[in-house]
Amino acid sequence: MNQVNSYIDSVFYTADALLEEVVSSIKENGMPSISVSPSSGKLLTMLVSISGAKKVLEIGALGGYSGICLARGFGKEGALTSLELEERYAELAHSNVVKAGFGNQVSYMTGAALQSLEELADENKQFDFFFIDADKANYEHYLEYCIRLAKPGALIIADNVLAKGSVVELDVTPKRYTEAMKKFNELAANHPQLESVLMPIGDGMTLSRVKK
Ligand SMILES: C[S@@+](CC[C@H](N)C(=O)[O-])C[C@H]1O[C@@H](n2cnc3c(N)ncnc32)[C@H](O)[C@@H]1O
Repeated sequence: MNQVNSYIDSVFYTADALLEEVVSSIKENGMPSISVSPSSGKLLTMLVSISGAKKVLEIGALGGYSGICLARGFGKEGALTSLELEERYAELAHSNVVKAGFGNQVSYMTGAALQSLEELADENKQFDFFFIDADKANYEHYLEYCIRLAKPGALIIADNVLAKGSVVELDVTPKRYTEAMKKFNELAANHPQLESVLMPIGDGMTLSRVKK
């Protein structure tokens, strides 16, 4: 899994000074180095762009790496709403998206994502693209909220669904979130309102399409 992903990143990743600065800023601020992998970020940009999504919701901002990748996909015409537990992380993410030229198109809601999602649902907000990348124990709830907030045909991507390969129980030590990811994958695969597939890129991403 690691070797395959290192290979993918080494062949398909092109140097990106801005994203490398984001990674450095996260380290300098003593935050965890858990942004999406370079290839996962590139995939997010391509999926937003290919789908033509203009209203994007992200759960888990950290330092803005994936936010920039998502915004690059919609260019000058879209908007990203990003949910983040930590005020301090959202501030760094915001300063990084400003550097990337998307300052006016990205807004942050801080605090527990479940609370923010309930607020968005109360306001009847709708989105056409979702990226789930926060606390794993709540992935199932996040998926249900995304479906509730989705326009027909919307895409929902969730990261870390292979839990470093531990979901297949070979010789990989289980992670804290292995069981949560197994349950999430079953839910995404069998949900009556979704059509889903899993892409083994980075730590694994599910791609679900909300049925029309
Ligand atoms: C893996 S990081 C996100 C990485 C980011 N998507 C990227 O690739 O640039 C997970 C983030 O989720 C946030 N988080 C954790 N629990 C949360 C919660 N209950 N509500 C909102 N955000 C949460 C963490 O503070 C952290 O910044």
